[in-house]
Amino acid sequence: MTASAPDASGDSLRFRRLMGRWATGVSVVTARDGPTDAGLTVNALLSVSTHPPALLVSLMHDVDTLPVLRRAGAFAASFLAHDQRALSERFAATVPPAEKFRGLALHRGATGAPLLDGTLGALECRVRSVSPAFDHDLVLGEVVRQEVGRDVLPLLFYRSGYAEADGPDRLRLPRAAPGRKGNLGRGGFKPPRTRSSR
Ligand SMILES: Cc1cc2nc3c(=O)[nH]c(=O)nc-3n(C[C@H](O)[C@H](O)[C@H](O)COP(=O)(O)O)c2cc1C
Repeated sequence: MTASAPDASGDSLRFRRLMGRWATGVSVVTARDGPTDAGLTVNALLSVSTHPPALLVSLMHDVDTLPVLRRAGAFAASFLAHDQRALSERFAATVPPAEKFRGLALHRGATGAPLLDGTLGALECRVRSVSPAFDHDLVLGEVVRQEVGRDVLPLLFYRSGYAEADGPDRLRLPRAAPGRKGNLGRGGFKPPRTRSSR
């Protein structure tokens, strides 16, 4: 590995920039408790087990979706396609939950959680545990239903920006702003009115 300047491990800005080099897909995690739907954009998502299929998502302590998900005991993760960036931005905004769902094309799964239309697919999970992890909670879900959607390119998040489709089989990755080691900040993507600046 080509080393760059070492750094105190507690530098959270450097940590965010470095993690920005870890490309991820983008999902929208949703839950329903009675008449209340809630959901947020999530890229801290991990497949933890195949027998049984299980999923882990990491949610900030204070997101509005977490109490709804806890009460519901279930959640869904819809995997966004390359042309669904607007949905990622919508679910990352700090607005009342009902506003996120206004006029949205969705359907209901087995758990009642709202699933977004037009995605690559979705998993529905029963919550098995919620464990505190510093400023986040780790939500472990056992998959109870799988839905396969469109077979198209994914929405990718990289260096705090989204990859753009560049033809049917190509994605163009966001570039670092000149003179910067990541593109957080000037010239980079800033999610509108979000709690966390991923
Ligand atoms: C690409 C992207 C990925 C994100 N991933 C996460 C995540 O994994 N966990 C999290 O808690 N917030 C994540 N966020 C921030 C939340 O989507 C944001 O704080 C949202 O407003 C929370 O909504 P809520 O309070 O209605 O639940 C992400 C934002 C973006 C733009």
